[in-house]
Amino acid sequence: MHVPFRRNRALRAFLLAGALGALSLPPAAAQEAGEVNIYSYRQPELIAPITEAFEKQTGIKVNTVFLSKGLEERIQAEGANSPADVIMTVDIGRLQRAEDVGITQQVEDEALQDAIPQQYRDPDGNWFGLTTRSRVVFASKDRVEQDEITYEELADPKWKGRICIRSGQHDYNIGLIASMIAHHGEEATEEWLRGLKNNLARRPDGNDRAQAKAIFSGECDLAIGNTYYVGVMATNEKEPEQKQWAEAIKVLFPNNADRGAHVNISGMAMAKNAPHPQNALKFMQFAASEEAQALYAEKNFEYPVKEGVPASDLVGSWGEINPDELPLSKIAEYRKTASELVDKVGFDEGPSS
Ligand SMILES: [Fe+2]
Repeated sequence: MHVPFRRNRALRAFLLAGALGALSLPPAAAQEAGEVNIYSYRQPELIAPITEAFEKQTGIKVNTVFLSKGLEERIQAEGANSPADVIMTVDIGRLQRAEDVGITQQVEDEALQDAIPQQYRDPDGNWFGLTTRSRVVFASKDRVEQDEITYEELADPKWKGRICIRSGQHDYNIGLIASMIAHHGEEATEEWLRGLKNNLARRPDGNDRAQAKAIFSGECDLAIGNTYYVGVMATNEKEPEQKQWAEAIKVLFPNNADRGAHVNISGMAMAKNAPHPQNALKFMQFAASEEAQALYAEKNFEYPVKEGVPASDLVGSWGEINPDELPLSKIAEYRKTASELVDKVGFDEGPSS
């Protein structure tokens, strides 16, 4: 016989809860008013300043679940009973994935549209950028004289054996390569990627900070990395050796003199089955407000998306960024092709000797 629908759903939720281990949000308590539940890929220390300020201002309690992987799968598995109200993550790849797997909902809100420039949000309101980060060139202060560069130039044989980069398949590089496809087309980007590969000092490996370290140690002269890591390294009291890595490099904003430096976003989305949609919207509006945007700038070394909110002094010391105005939705569109090109040219195998 059929189990009545409602019981069936409750039973499924119960079984899922068991299967996923102890959920940190008790579903019943999470449904109460005066709360908002955030599922975040972003690290606790990056989110806490914003959630604490929001709680203070509104009295709405913020419950945050931090995940390093499987956020999309978890919300999918929780289905209609998911306690998730807001999803926070980095990179257009992940934001778009959340939309693609159907765990977001469209939000049409004037405050959000006013605060967040069009190129940094989904045309249908499924995701919104909160901060931007540029994928820049780290250049050795000692061994690189020029203070300007373009992405195109990284394929010039004059850099042979001098460039370091992490895996071409990492979301950050896929975003950059997708932007090249948007600007130059697939064929020209393939050629560029081959040129860049041939200029590498070693096989792509490690994270962005490891590339700065490789410049410090003399293994390469140029590297590609995200801006905020320079701030994180320069102020790292826990691992002070990273200050030397930051000290060894200068930040060059590629194409600053023409179309602008490639930027990606960190952002947020309202979860499809948000049990507290009004509180979720309030939180999203707060995250885009001047107060929260200033916190992001100071604590995370990222660029606020909201116009008129300045970057931190440290970030400002690298010079003025002219951000590429290509809509992030375009980057999402070319990500798959970018990933295929990385494989096609054997990018992660490193330079052919
Ligand atoms: Fe990162």
